[in-house]
Amino acid sequence: MHKDLERILLSEKELDTIITRIAAELDRDYSGSDKRLVLLCILKGSVVFMGELMKKITVPVEIDFMRVSSYGAGTETTGSINIILDLLRKDLDQCDIVIVEDIVDSGRTLSHLTKYLKLKGVHSVRTCTLLDKPERREVDLVADYVGSVIPDEFVVGYGLDYDEKYRALPYVGILKREVYEK
Ligand code: PRP
Repeated sequence: MHKDLERILLSEKELDTIITRIAAELDRDYSGSDKRLVLLCILKGSVVFMGELMKKITVPVEIDFMRVSSYGAGTETTGSINIILDLLRKDLDQCDIVIVEDIVDSGRTLSHLTKYLKLKGVHSVRTCTLLDKPERREVDLVADYVGSVIPDEFVVGYGLDYDEKYRALPYVGILKREVYEK
């Protein structure tokens, strides 16, 4: 285990089981659809989850990317989000989009993105998150596919960072308080 971690919250094996289950749910829900299934990875934190998830889905699937940022810095997210990399494809009315997130915290990012994509004329939008912190919710957002509901701890690894570090860890761990409070 990395020395900056308090403990591992989700091991590689547990993550594999979770992602296998979500892929099966997506296969079940999108088999037989005549639209294009698009996994929309929200950079950067979702990249590891997305990479594993797409390998386990057996129905035809496409991928795309957006990057957004919340205004403000540090460990808190704020009310509005800023689109840094937009979705450029022109066939959105033919797309069933599943937004893929690493974590839902306040819920503002997914809530805003869902409304944004609907306004752009997407055929359907659903949301998928590896981790869910319901204690932190500020808006009414329930993700359609949830990997694991977790406590309100500072988690890193498997794509999630603190100050851009720890994203490459193959598990999700709880960061020691002294690391982000010093
Ligand atoms: C994180 C996460 C979500 C968002 C969730 O991204 O990946 O996009 O915050 O928070 P919310 O539910 O309060 O909106 P972050 O801004 O840390 O960017 P990153 O993925 O590039 O690390």
